[in-house]
Amino acid sequence: MFTPAITGTGVFTPSQTITNAELVAAFNAYADKTNAENAKAIAAGKMEPLAHSSEEFILKASGIEQRYVMDKSGVLDPEVMHPLLRQRGDDEPSIMAEMALDAAKKALAQAGKTAADVDTVICAASNMERAYPALAIEIQDLLGIKGFAFDMNVACSSATFGIQAAADMVRSGSIRSALVVNPEICSGHLEWRDRDCHFIFGDVATATLIERSEDATGAYFEILSTRCATSFSNNIRNNNGYLRRSRPDGVEDRRDMQFMQNGRKVFKEVLPMVSQHIAEHMEAEGVSNTDLKRLWLHQANKTMNDFIGKKVLGRTPEAGEQPNILQDYANTSSAGSIIAFSKYSDDLSAGDLGLICSFGAGYSVGSVILRRVA
Ligand code: COA
Repeated sequence: MFTPAITGTGVFTPSQTITNAELVAAFNAYADKTNAENAKAIAAGKMEPLAHSSEEFILKASGIEQRYVMDKSGVLDPEVMHPLLRQRGDDEPSIMAEMALDAAKKALAQAGKTAADVDTVICAASNMERAYPALAIEIQDLLGIKGFAFDMNVACSSATFGIQAAADMVRSGSIRSALVVNPEICSGHLEWRDRDCHFIFGDVATATLIERSEDATGAYFEILSTRCATSFSNNIRNNNGYLRRSRPDGVEDRRDMQFMQNGRKVFKEVLPMVSQHIAEHMEAEGVSNTDLKRLWLHQANKTMNDFIGKKVLGRTPEAGEQPNILQDYANTSSAGSIIAFSKYSDDLSAGDLGLICSFGAGYSVGSVILRRVA
């Protein structure tokens, strides 16, 4: 048996941002236009007018101030209200592969490794831009990695589930190392025409290199333990899929072909699930809340993170103990906790313990307990 370790991480951040002010202005223009176009139906009581969105609500309900996106022009155009991305030829790198590649190169550079040191690529994300061939195999090819690659999807928990899969393979000796990449174009499945959720998501890609600890060339994080759990729920759901054209109205512009959630229920049901999951994982590993130096949580909602941080530590976390990045990135699905880890882990000292935790659709929750090794 070998000891798996995180030896490098990388983040690809898109160049375009949308502030809450820009987002709300575009949504409100869309709402006014839609209401004007449907004035008769609204007057006859056959349709509810669309209400305006508000910056104050978004900040208070979520903590989000802006999000990065791959294309803001379409999202902010009241005539379009979704990203506009160029259709690439089959002989060009796909957009998700390109984002993952950037993050993967940064992770390799941080670890002081090259593609020749990697055996496996796992592309773990909420959506794949095509059915097949696997995105992971394209990323493997672009990096020039031998061995094998595969895609997996556990929505917002994809990264921690991917880390568990990679860590278990490294531990057993079937591979020496794996790159877990999380390219997320959440702007593609977000319903920008719905004020209840239009502020939630952003785009990003992250990568994590998992190796045998004996292969590390610099400081690293030993993976002490991982734990994953799932429990079926329809409260976060997207019905888009390959059987779409087989259904009578399947290719219509249907609301359920984009992200849908019952946010209040998610809040109420996921918080206890996550708090209990982390507590049980820590207890099983003999880790007490006073041992834990940092929490890198899924980045969906500030209030949720404040609640979980307090539950896990038994007190209000001090500044820096539970870093949030959601104010800048919004919810980036599987990538959120890895962005937080990547940006806020260098300052820990040898022996310090930390915990990555992601949670979301499924429901799903995954946690990774780490120890810093200088
Ligand atoms: N601007 C202004 N008002 C808005 C609005 C907007 N953009 N969106 C919703 N509102 C209104 C609602 O219509 C509602 O009005 P009502 O009280 O008259 O019915 C009111 O604000 C409160 O809405 P609600 O949805 O109950 O807000 P909330 O406090 O629950 O916050 C979320 C909404 C989505 C931020 C919150 O529920 C959440 O974060 N849930 C968990 C999300 C999550 O983690 N999802 C995982 C995704 S992977």
